[in-house]
Amino acid sequence: MSRNNVKVAVTGAAGQIGYSLLFRLASGEVFGANTKISLHLLEITPALPALEGVVMELNDCAFPLLENVVVTDNPETAFDGINWALLVGSKPRGAGMERGDLIRENGPIFVGQGRALNKAASDARVVVVGNPANTNCLIAMNNSDLPNNRFGALTRLDQNRAYAQLAQKAHVPVSAVSNVTIWGNHSATQYPDAENAKINGQPAMEVITDQDWLRGEFITTVQKRGAAIIKARGKSSAASAANATLDHVMSFESKTPEGHWFSVAVPSDGSYGIEEGLIFSFPVTSDGAGGYAIVQGLTWSDFAREKVSLTEEELKNEKSVVADLLK
Ligand code: NAD
Ligand code: LMR
Repeated sequence: MSRNNVKVAVTGAAGQIGYSLLFRLASGEVFGANTKISLHLLEITPALPALEGVVMELNDCAFPLLENVVVTDNPETAFDGINWALLVGSKPRGAGMERGDLIRENGPIFVGQGRALNKAASDARVVVVGNPANTNCLIAMNNSDLPNNRFGALTRLDQNRAYAQLAQKAHVPVSAVSNVTIWGNHSATQYPDAENAKINGQPAMEVITDQDWLRGEFITTVQKRGAAIIKARGKSSAASAANATLDHVMSFESKTPEGHWFSVAVPSDGSYGIEEGLIFSFPVTSDGAGGYAIVQGLTWSDFAREKVSLTEEELKNEKSVVADLLK
């Protein structure tokens, strides 16, 4: 999609992921060298002084494309007229927690922000990064009048992790890997699908002959990568999460090449028998003009079917835990 200017809201802009996102957005690498960018930065009131420091640094980069920066603690001001909303602001989990443990703490944030998204441009697209991302997205979508097909939650980081694991195992560059899908929830139940993946155009399950690894360690490594990073760094992933968020935006802004797809959690339309309305990660293609489609016709083994039903069950359960936050 080519534009003269774009307005992007980033919530939690003074946080870790924000610090990795904003400079790359302002540099022009996401929307291109001909698109001026306005950043609308939302924080909670006590974090506004820290955010002012980040804005000083943005100014000090003298980015030619950065037209305007709005700093606010009011979601309606932040979302006024925006084309993209990157909903990052929320609490990260600590060691020993699952992402779903944040649900009652972070979920309410997305009620008010969902309502405030009514101020966004009619073609605005929303990506929820804050955890638990799928169910927070469900809450925002249910509280907003924007069409449901404008909402998504980030599973691109999981997809990127899966690409990296398959490439390392097959001793090939990441660029040789394609058609990996993340199904379901951005949680430890997600199903990273190697059965439909390819390496140098060949089935990944044939190129990698270690079937135990493909059905065991590969899946658990991707499922638990967030926790492994928290254990190692003492903080949750930030640069890779920001990178995946920008990959997500760029995938929607451009037409997906023939035969390829990317993973994103979108409202289920019943494809693959998944309960309608759940924010479920599917393989998706973009037409580059604001529309997307869930890729149809991929097949699952019994093993895959069992994994997918576990992640669907988890999402149904998360939905029931936040029933009072859904309109
Ligand atoms: P962080 O604590 O460094 O920053 C979060 C920021 O959000 C803070 O500055 C905080 O003040 C702000 N915030 C809190 N409530 C807010 C609200 N109501 N409105 C606006 N801002 C608000 O955390 P982080 O490392 O940047 O992570 C942010 C979120 O992203 C966490 O929930 C984390 O678990 C999640 N995350 C998701 C993925 C993914 O792949 N989906 C990957 C990494 C992290
Ligand atoms: C991640 O996948 O790195 C994030 O969701 C952070 C987390 O809590 O795992």
